[in-house]
Amino acid sequence: MVSAVRRIDVELAAAAEDRSYPILIAPGLIDGHAELERWVGGREVFVISNETIAPLYLDRVIAAFGDRRIDTLILPDGESHKHLGSLEHIFDALLTKRHSRATTLVALGGGVVGDMTGFAAACYQRGVGFIQIPTTLLAQVDSSIGGKTAVNHPRGKNMIGAFHQPRGVLIDTDVLTTLPARELAAGLAEVVKYGCIRDRDFFAWLEREMPALLDRDPEALAVAIQRSCEIKAEVVGADEREAGLRAILNFGHTFGHAIETHTGYRSWLHGEAVAAGMVLAAELSVRLGSLEASEAGRIRGLLAAAGLPTQPPDDLDPDTFLTHMAVDKKVVDGRQRLILLAGLGNAEVRDDVPREHIIATLVARGVAV
Ligand code: NAD
Ligand code: GLY
Repeated sequence: MVSAVRRIDVELAAAAEDRSYPILIAPGLIDGHAELERWVGGREVFVISNETIAPLYLDRVIAAFGDRRIDTLILPDGESHKHLGSLEHIFDALLTKRHSRATTLVALGGGVVGDMTGFAAACYQRGVGFIQIPTTLLAQVDSSIGGKTAVNHPRGKNMIGAFHQPRGVLIDTDVLTTLPARELAAGLAEVVKYGCIRDRDFFAWLEREMPALLDRDPEALAVAIQRSCEIKAEVVGADEREAGLRAILNFGHTFGHAIETHTGYRSWLHGEAVAAGMVLAAELSVRLGSLEASEAGRIRGLLAAAGLPTQPPDDLDPDTFLTHMAVDKKVVDGRQRLILLAGLGNAEVRDDVPREHIIATLVARGVAV
C-alpha cells in the first residue's frame, strides 16, 4: 500500500522573495518526490551527511536527485564536530568541486548535520539554497524546520549562526526504524513539548499513544510528526526571528540548558535535559498559580512513560543551576525570561519570576542546597 504524503506549509511573511516552503511526510520519501524538482535550483547538488547515516541512506538520496551533478561530504558523527572547523571543511569541498551560486546543499542527518549544512548554505557565496532530509525524530519535528542554523563556539552552544530557511523538508518516517531507542525518546521530549505549549488534545492523544510511539508504530509516528510540524510551522510563520511568540518553543529549554552545561553536553542528550527542564518549568508554573498540580503531574507522567528523565542530576546545587540558566541565549537585558504554562496547552513568556520561587522549585525536585 502506498501511504499518502502529508504536507504542511511553512508560510513566512512576504519579503523580497517568497521563502515559504513545504514539509512533506511519508514513508520512503528519501527515494524521491516530484517536489524535489522545484527545490533544486540548478544542476548541482552537494549532499552533507555523517559516517553513521551515510552507509544507511546516502545511496538512496543520491539516486533521488537523478542525473544531476552530485557531490558528497561525509563528516564525523557527533555534537563535538559542530564547530567552525567543520564549516571550513565544507567550504573547502564546495570550492574544490567548483560549486557555483546555483548549487543546492542537502542535509541528510540529525540536527547536527542539519544545523551545519544550513549555516554553510547561509554563508557559501553569500547564500545558496538547501534542503533538509532529517533522520532523527528530533530533527523531523524541530531542528529541520524554521531556519535556525548554527555551530557551537567553545564559549557557548549554537552561538555562531544565521537564520536561513530551507527550500523544503523531506521527512521519511521509515528512517526512524534504525534510530537508537534513546534518540527516539529524546525526540519524543520535543513532541510532548508541542502538546504542553499549544495543544491540550494532542497532549491527551500522546498519553494514549505513547506505547505505540515507543513501538515505532508507523501511523502513530506519522500523526505525532505531522501535528508537531504543524505547530512549529504555525509558530515560525507568525514570528520567524523570535521577536516574541517563537520563544514558547523553548519551553523547558532554559532549565535543560543548565543541565546540559553542567554535564558538559556529554552524558545527557538535549531531549533528556529538556524533559527534566519541562518538569521544572511546569512545577514552577504550579508554584506561581498558573497551572494545576494535576496537570504538572500529567506532564511528568507522560515524560516518564517515554523513558525520559524527570529529575535533574543530583550533583547540581541551586546557585550553580541559576548561574547556568543565566548564560542562556534567552536572557535579555539581564532579565531571565522563562517559558511557563498558563494551563496545559498554553505557554506564556515571563520575565518577572522571583528567584526564590525558582530555587524552591529546584529544591522540591531534589536539587540539594
Ligand atoms: P544528532 O544529529 O547528533 O543525531 C543523533 C545520533 O543519531 C547521531 O549519532 C546520528 O548519527 C544518529 N542518527 C541520526 N539519524 C539516524 C538514523 N535514522 N538511524 C541511525 N542513527 C541515526 O542529534 P539530534 O538530536 O538529531 O540533533 C541535535 C542537534 O540539533 C543539536 O546540535 C541541537 O543544537 C540542534 N537543534 C537545532 C534546532 C534548530 O532549530 N535548528 C532545534 C533543536 C535542536
Ligand atoms: N527550537 C527552537 C526554535 O526553533 O525556535
